Amino acid sequence: MSEFKKTVLCIGAGYVGGPTMAVMAHKCTNYKFHVVDINPKRIDAWNSSDLPIYEPGLDELVFERRNKNLFFTTEVAQGIAEADIIFVSVNTPTKTYGHGAGIAADLQYWEKTARQIAEVSTSDKIVVEKSTLPVRTAEAMSKILKANSRGLNFEVVSNPEFLAEGTGIEDLLTPDRVLIGADESPSGQRACQEIADIYSHWVKPERILTTNVWSSELSKLVANAFLAQRVSSINSISALCEATEADVNEVAHAIGTDSRIGPKFLKASVGFGGSCFQKDILNLVYIARSYGLEEVADYWEQVISVNEWQKSRFVRKMISSMFNTLAGKRIVLFGFAFKANTGDTRESPAIEVTKQLLEERASVVITDPKAIENAKIDLVEYLDQIEFEEDPYKAAEGAHAIGVMTEWDLYKELDYQRIYESMQKPACLFDGRNVLDHSALHELGFHVFPIGKSPLVHH
Ligand code: NAD
Ligand code: UDX
Repeated sequence: MSEFKKTVLCIGAGYVGGPTMAVMAHKCTNYKFHVVDINPKRIDAWNSSDLPIYEPGLDELVFERRNKNLFFTTEVAQGIAEADIIFVSVNTPTKTYGHGAGIAADLQYWEKTARQIAEVSTSDKIVVEKSTLPVRTAEAMSKILKANSRGLNFEVVSNPEFLAEGTGIEDLLTPDRVLIGADESPSGQRACQEIADIYSHWVKPERILTTNVWSSELSKLVANAFLAQRVSSINSISALCEATEADVNEVAHAIGTDSRIGPKFLKASVGFGGSCFQKDILNLVYIARSYGLEEVADYWEQVISVNEWQKSRFVRKMISSMFNTLAGKRIVLFGFAFKANTGDTRESPAIEVTKQLLEERASVVITDPKAIENAKIDLVEYLDQIEFEEDPYKAAEGAHAIGVMTEWDLYKELDYQRIYESMQKPACLFDGRNVLDHSALHELGFHVFPIGKSPLVHH
């Protein structure tokens, strides 16, 4: 007889699977949590002192629960056989081939997982969609599982994850809500309750929302689309602010104090990044088009177009403010992660900015406290043209311009007098995150170009 009430398996030891199971293991010490992945390197890292992802608060939780009720292995089949509940948290990237390439979700990992669950199960399972998936994927999963059930019962439940990177542990510990979508049948409702039981160890009942499966799947895509839409909305206004001498921070504050609008997600930037926003909006667009809803698709597609435009606009501003040529100029990018407090660089605006700077034949230097390794992978085709330097002071030496790509606190605390002195003159600073003290930098001698505000230049 196991010492644990239930055995929970998580397939996919990534940014979602690892932290989610670590928090669950910390809160539900009477459950066993087993995280599996096909990538042995990732699993080795989860079992080491150097975890594969950086997330504040994660190390402590993993080190506290690992090998007690939290286990990381590559034993996918064994894990499935032993589990009562299976969270599937594999990646669901955008398709790069065939029909729907560049837009639709690539569900090959998902379907393989479903088939493997059916193949190796010897007892009933609750299968939880943790990955973000197109609406009605649970239906496809149910069909695959039922067609291969050999008399076993598989209940598919949707439980999308809303954590944001950099604050993942905090988001998991105090979620705004937990969403569980389940079939309305008695067995579907029992499965829903089992998942709610796990969360109720630390989440108040009023924050555990239950819906039908399709609403749950769709809500996840819509939540990301609405969040990204706010960023594109304020970024579109940032261009107008630059043209009219309005200040985007003041506009954001003024509109954000309207309780109907609210203050969050109104920070103008060089553009949004991350593995989710673009992928999930594209997914929404694809689904809308597949139902013939062209206007709906066009509307949401525009959120991505504005984001692309904002990144190019940033580079164009560099060109026009640096005498219309960047060729041979040393430009240092402060930050490469798609946001602060993560080493993740997926879809980071810094990737596109770097590529466009290289097209202009600039000499690009990248510095970041956590993301240099990932940056090297993203830019593998251009490594001979880029310098990577962990120390921001060294990176800035001899540079013509600095571009702030990530809002790391560290960049707010640097000695900019020292940096200014080591740079070529005129020294330009393009703050793609509006996080530095622009007047102080201007006083030091920098030409400062914020987002959505008038530049501070010397004549
Ligand atoms: P990730 O790429 O970091 O991790 C996915 C892991 O799944 C990888 O380690 C991969 O090796 C593994 N995997 C793939 N196929 C497998 C298989 N057949 N068996 C075992 N392991 C397999 O991805 P992620 O960022 O954790 O995202 C996972 C899902 O969660 C995606 O659908 C994503 O949209 C969603 N999501 C992500 C975030 C986020 O902040 N990253 C937030 C909410 C939701
Ligand atoms: C997002 C969602 O917030 C989260 O709920 C979902 O589960 C996964 O996708 P994440 O991508 O980790 O999370 O980070 P988020 O904080 O949403 O930021 C996304 C991008 O938008 C970042 O590049 C960030 O810098 C940018 N952003 C965010 C802005 O430019 N301005 C803002 O005001 C907010």
